[in-house]
Amino acid sequence: MTKKRLLKLAYSAWPTARHASAWRLPEAFNNGTVDPVYLADTARAVERGLFDYYFMGNAISSTPDAQGFWHNDVFKLEGFTVASYVAAITRNVGLVVTVNSSYQDPFDTARAIVSLDHLSNGRAGLNIVTGLEGVDAPAQNYGQVKHITGDEKYRKAREFISVINGLSDSWEDGYFLDDRAAGRFIDTSKAHAIDFKGDHFSVRGPLNLPRPPQGQIPIIHAGGSEASFQYGGEFADIRFSPFVSTEWNIEYYRKVKSYLEPFGRDPDSFFIIPGITFFVAGTDVEAHRKFREVQDLVVSQYAPAQVSALVGRDVSGIDGHEKIVDVLDTSDFEKHQWLRTALAAFGDEQVTFRDLFRYIANKGHLNQPPVVGSGKTVANWIAENFEARALDGVKLFPPYARTPLDAFVDLVVPELQRLGIYKTSYEASTLRGHLGIERPANRFTEGASRLAAE
Ligand SMILES: Cc1cc2nc3c(=O)[nH]c(=O)nc-3n(C[C@H](O)[C@H](O)[C@H](O)COP(=O)(O)O)c2cc1C
Repeated sequence: MTKKRLLKLAYSAWPTARHASAWRLPEAFNNGTVDPVYLADTARAVERGLFDYYFMGNAISSTPDAQGFWHNDVFKLEGFTVASYVAAITRNVGLVVTVNSSYQDPFDTARAIVSLDHLSNGRAGLNIVTGLEGVDAPAQNYGQVKHITGDEKYRKAREFISVINGLSDSWEDGYFLDDRAAGRFIDTSKAHAIDFKGDHFSVRGPLNLPRPPQGQIPIIHAGGSEASFQYGGEFADIRFSPFVSTEWNIEYYRKVKSYLEPFGRDPDSFFIIPGITFFVAGTDVEAHRKFREVQDLVVSQYAPAQVSALVGRDVSGIDGHEKIVDVLDTSDFEKHQWLRTALAAFGDEQVTFRDLFRYIANKGHLNQPPVVGSGKTVANWIAENFEARALDGVKLFPPYARTPLDAFVDLVVPELQRLGIYKTSYEASTLRGHLGIERPANRFTEGASRLAAE
């Protein structure tokens, strides 16, 4: 019998959440950057919501002049440190740490992620990113000048994952003898050097840790290039993706899953999980009111040139207080799906050009539009996109800390359960278990290599 397909939920632990202006609300909690109590509170809320994983994004440089949307790039706790802290105060939720394969070291990363998998009893996941083209600040923290580009960074990423996967297998199960009578502590025949030699990394192994409880660590990957799609098709279990619109994402979902085919992989064991910002309240009206309150806090001055560029017509002569539905026509709304999405977020047709500017000023709204409504409205929206196979789950980017996470857990999760697309209790306590993917055989175990060859 095939198992019922269930929605996956994840939480992105960005300390000041993810919105250009929501942090300016009086109720926003903005001191979470290095606050263990805040981290603990979010971790407990996430487990209360039966989330599949708690996600730590990565930053390996700081941009002190970043304000608004990117303020999370100013400070970021180190992910493995956060994950081991969260592991100690939770029992079931998966713990995903992000590393950048262009700069970080695969042996160190293998040690850290395998350690985390042991200490969390099999809850670790690794998000591998390669770094954005043209962003050189990380390179300059790692003894280089410019970010590596093009195919080279994915060649390096392939070597990176090959080392980590090889080291994870470098001890077979059954290594521990504890044979006090014979004086044999371990079975040394279970240890394997990996003797990896690439253009970027050279690693002998074995790892100085037993095989992780999950056998191999589940891999998450994000990126926009062809090389990224191929990489994900071969190595990843989850793709962290944008959410543009239902139509866009259905096409994206189909395309991305097609990259699994050359590797004979099951598309139902690979999950597409976009990051989405939700404004949830007791009623639709309240949620839209909060969204508008947040938009009104955008700092940037009205710039008609930016609106003109995006709507593709000159609106510089139009008063910013004019309603867009009074000026733009049906063809504009047909051409620019995001205009409809903007109206939907405000919840009515009172949207002015000034509002539209503020919507655009929130970088990210255009390719990751916010979803606004009551628990029921938001759950229905998620369910429709899940059933349409536009996504397999969602990763929450709360707009501000800390009440929106609780609102999602208290108002949306019960509705998702009522719709029958989300679990009502944890059915597993490992990340692989949450994803329903098996613990793979060890490449060094005789039966396993014979099976792979067959
Ligand atoms: C939806 C999405 C989410 C991403 N999240 C992160 C992140 O948390 N941390 C990070 O360093 N890079 C992140 N990236 C950047 C990518 O992982 C990748 O480094 C970048 O897109 C360059 O790869 P590409 O040339 O294949 O697009 C993200 C990219 C996308 C598309």
